[in-house]
Amino acid sequence: MLKRTHMCGDLRETDAGSDVVLCGWVNSYREQGKGLFFIDLRDRTGMTQVVFDQEDVPGDVMDASRSLRRESVIAVGGQVRARDGGANPKLPTGAIEILGSSLEVLNTTDNPPILPDEHEAGKIDEEIRLRHRYIDLRRPRMQSILGLRSKVAQHTRNFFAEHGFLEVETPLLIRSTPEGARDFIVPSRMYPGQWYALPQSPQLFKQILMVSGCDRYMQICKCLRDEDPRADRQAEFTQIDLEMSFVDQDDVMDIMSQFATGLFKTFKDVDLGEIPRLSYAEAMDRYGSDRPDLRFDLEMTDVSEIAAKTDFKVFTSVMEGEHGAVKAMRIPGGAEQLTRKMLDGYGDYAKTWRTGGLPYVKYTGEGDNGGFETGVAKFLAPVSDQLVAALHLEAGDVVLFTADERITAETAMGHVRLKVAEDLDLIDPEAWAPLWVVDFPMFAWDVDSKRYVSLHHPFSAPREDQLPLLETDPANCISACYDLVINGSEVGGGSIRIHDPSVQAKVFELIGLSDEEASEKFGFLLEALKYGAPPHGGIAFGLDRLVMLLFGTDNIRDVIAFPKTQNGADLMCEAPGPIDESQLNDLGLQIEVEAPSG
Ligand code: AMO
Ligand code: AMP
Repeated sequence: MLKRTHMCGDLRETDAGSDVVLCGWVNSYREQGKGLFFIDLRDRTGMTQVVFDQEDVPGDVMDASRSLRRESVIAVGGQVRARDGGANPKLPTGAIEILGSSLEVLNTTDNPPILPDEHEAGKIDEEIRLRHRYIDLRRPRMQSILGLRSKVAQHTRNFFAEHGFLEVETPLLIRSTPEGARDFIVPSRMYPGQWYALPQSPQLFKQILMVSGCDRYMQICKCLRDEDPRADRQAEFTQIDLEMSFVDQDDVMDIMSQFATGLFKTFKDVDLGEIPRLSYAEAMDRYGSDRPDLRFDLEMTDVSEIAAKTDFKVFTSVMEGEHGAVKAMRIPGGAEQLTRKMLDGYGDYAKTWRTGGLPYVKYTGEGDNGGFETGVAKFLAPVSDQLVAALHLEAGDVVLFTADERITAETAMGHVRLKVAEDLDLIDPEAWAPLWVVDFPMFAWDVDSKRYVSLHHPFSAPREDQLPLLETDPANCISACYDLVINGSEVGGGSIRIHDPSVQAKVFELIGLSDEEASEKFGFLLEALKYGAPPHGGIAFGLDRLVMLLFGTDNIRDVIAFPKTQNGADLMCEAPGPIDESQLNDLGLQIEVEAPSG
């Protein structure tokens, strides 16, 4: 077999005259009339043009080259020379070609169901690409994502090693300790009727590592959550997970700011600068989201007091409720840019976020109704001066309103805000807007189950000054939780943890876990906390989401070598799939549900 000397992306004009051997896949081939056979040979580093001239090579080499197909695997020996017909500026190797002298067909191929062709890829159904992922991954784009992801992981390990972190592997088969999402569970053969769960994160293990005196832990780990995949969410994903002892919130945020800044400098040559902080309350109030996209300015304003003075029933009835609020968002120059159809579309969209509608007006600055036109203008006329002042309105603006329970009104407007920004092209594709969201409430009231739930997870501590509120006013107790958000994507989240078992017991009680349930589910943590647990805190970054940002894609499947579909299936290995009767018997399991057909 010919022995490879170079990769297909390696060679340049300075290599002219060298004898080389390249191996790879036939990206394309063509024969030119004068007995010249051209091959574009590809590997993960790039592409090189090879030419066989029938004047120079034996007939069997020409025959072998004529038998090639796209995606055949070959080795080619030959000499580098400057390109005969002039350089191809589109290829890094475009100044040279290999004048082939030997050819070895290392493997033939059936007619490929898809080709690793960037131009074609966009037109091919993603399901077909996922089914034949090995071909899809040959595409230069996918190869560069795999390469970037590998480098980011390497950079991460180096960074944390330099900062004194130990890399520790935590188990995949654990006890079911749900953290918010549904667990994937695994039956135990040795303990019939008992189950392992796959970790939603190494949360409890990393805390226990702090009790073990590990001091600083990190791991690049798989997390598994049985939830529906979305554009930025997979059931199986990867975290950069860490935990630190004897730290406060600022220590964790500082080191993570340094890490994030270094990543963006290294891989994007972007300076993220000092990362600003915003409280959860302010993020909700101004942007209607706990992960606001700050690449553009649109902000909303609370106009509850003004709205309560109108005769518009939608506003007044909401303001009669205890938690009601009316939010307004000014869209500068919107009167020109937003058609009636778009505005009505935003109304329908707002309804999908569980609010009743999206009243709007245009502001002209003159005429009846205090300068307001269309929509709910007539209701706003009596308060026009106050609205103009509160929203700093200028002629030509559009104002959108949501009126509902505060959280609903803010959330719905937050989503409309993103849609408007997209439609009006307000997002600068070159902009980077990182921020820390801090001061989350400890608990959120869950309307369905009528109880408090932890906003992050139940191991997060209250901010030190907030501890008394756990007893007196838990609804307003602020936690020591923090999220890093970049361009509207939640890149990471963490907290200072509870290290006092009595505080942990109180939090369990507040979220409605009885002592028995708490000790049944988390007894090992509660016990560990009793035996010398240091104060500690940590965070996890979503590696997939970081790579999405660094590469510039909004599809999480792009950055995972073997992702699941939106329906949670691996189309290549056809998982989930059935298991043998004997495997079921070993596990003492019986299937009662009919498997869905198709
Ligand atoms: P959390 O659940 O916030 O925290 O997760 C941390 C980060 O992981 C990423 N992430 C996901 N990425 C892709 N698909 C998913 N389904 C998915 N879910 C989460 C996000 C998120 O910010 N144990 C805590 C961390 C801690 O407190 O230290 C935890 O898992 O980027
Ligand atoms: P109407 O008085 O039904 O013509 O509605 C006037 C405006 O108020 C429209 O823009 C509706 O989208 C909006 N609207 C109607 N009902 C609600 C509601 N329950 N909550 C919020 N907006 C509403």
